[in-house]
Amino acid sequence: MPIKVLITNDYDELSKKAADIIADAIRAKPNIILGLATGGTPVGCYRELIRMCKEKGLDFSRVTTFNLDEYLGLPPTHPQSYRYFMNENLFNHVNIKAKNTHVLDGLTKDPQRTCQEYEKAIKAAGGIELQLLGIGANGHIAFNEPGSPFDSRTGVVKFSKQTIKDNARFFESIDEVPRQALSMGIGTIMEAKKTLLLATGARKADAVVKSAKGPITTDVPASILQKHPHCTFIVDEAAASKLPRVR
Ligand code: PGA
Repeated sequence: MPIKVLITNDYDELSKKAADIIADAIRAKPNIILGLATGGTPVGCYRELIRMCKEKGLDFSRVTTFNLDEYLGLPPTHPQSYRYFMNENLFNHVNIKAKNTHVLDGLTKDPQRTCQEYEKAIKAAGGIELQLLGIGANGHIAFNEPGSPFDSRTGVVKFSKQTIKDNARFFESIDEVPRQALSMGIGTIMEAKKTLLLATGARKADAVVKSAKGPITTDVPASILQKHPHCTFIVDEAAASKLPRVR
């Protein structure tokens, strides 16, 4: 299925549109299984979901979530861990039950087993219905870097130099950026019933056009989404600047 691309004027509109889609999905199925993402991009969407929960009674009490990835070696209390991020940016501010929120354990002593159990837990829950995604400037989804096989499953991944550089802004120095993570695989992500990818800013324009319109290649991991049965990109004008437009 071709990817449906929605272009918004700016980041605020992108965030609202994404939150509306997620809120509608929760209202349609209050016990929905959501796949969630971290990074700078979804913060506005989460802010909007928090507002909807507080002001409009959007109910998270029966929602279950699985996050895409976690840094290997960071404890959940580390401000840069993705568990911490999710608590701060969403979970602590909505009426979701902590036990229904799943983030891979960055401190695991047995990463392989942790990843296998994560896959099992997703299956046991009934599979992810709506997976939120960001995209790296190099086209990665979750922490699946260029070259990752399209059928990869949840496992340990090593970061590319680009990703280490991109993540350095969140740490005191580049030396503190973890070199590895646990991440859902591309095969895992592709099993979600719906996928929703957000991209903002000119820095993502190349990755957006290559993923949505370019050849499907492991050089651009997100390009596999062209084969996903229900994939929507929401991108702002800057991130859409290299897309061909119908005039
Ligand atoms: P960002 O990260 O939202 O912080 O740009 C997205 C990603 O790398 O997947």
